[in-house]
Amino acid sequence: MIGNDIVDLALAKKESNWKRKGFLDKIFTPKEQLLISNAINPEVMVWNLWSRKEAAYKIYNRETGIRGYFPLQLVCCFENEISGTVVCNENTYFTQTIISDEFIHSIAVVKKEYFNEIKTLNSKTKISKTNGIPFIIDEQTKIEKPVSISHHGRFWRGISV
Ligand SMILES: CC(C)(COP(=O)(O)OP(=O)(O)OC[C@H]1O[C@@H](n2cnc3c(N)ncnc32)[C@H](O)[C@@H]1OP(=O)(O)O)[C@@H](O)C(=O)NCCC(=O)NCCS
Repeated sequence: MIGNDIVDLALAKKESNWKRKGFLDKIFTPKEQLLISNAINPEVMVWNLWSRKEAAYKIYNRETGIRGYFPLQLVCCFENEISGTVVCNENTYFTQTIISDEFIHSIAVVKKEYFNEIKTLNSKTKISKTNGIPFIIDEQTKIEKPVSISHHGRFWRGISV
């Protein structure tokens, strides 16, 4: 199982004032807030942690069927700028994050080995959805394969394993 999330940093800057009162408390645990306040670039850390949580949520929702908005239950364990885990109600998801000047893209998987198997989808790939959750049909085997897609501002990323 996989999940991904992309943040267009220019759009995030324009649309989301992460410094507004109460925002950080609603989304980030005290430990995560400490990571943000100690970061060289706090804004990038905000979206880094955010994208990890969203990528992990996409797996959590698929696995459990539980939907909702519960950012404080998606707890980031930060190894370094590009890797870590997100724990949600005793489920652990591994994350890898790419940070550029333009975007932040996080991928979450249930097993670390899956990182080596990630394939990037072409934006023209035919993607179907059940209850809003995307999948593709493998052309050779005709078997449904879960995919994860994310779009924000100028960017679109789709992945499968
Ligand atoms: C559903 C949710 C994950 C979508 O994330 P988003 O950043 O708004 O949008 P993205 O572009 O990254 O992802 C949207 C795509 O994810 C897919 N998707 C939607 N719900 C999904 C789910 N529950 N699981 C997996 N994939 C899902 C869809 O294919 C959708 O694409 P579409 O709009 O073309 O159909 C998000 O709105 C949400 O509900 N998050 C809850 C978790 C939380 O508490 N987040 C707080 C901030 S950290």
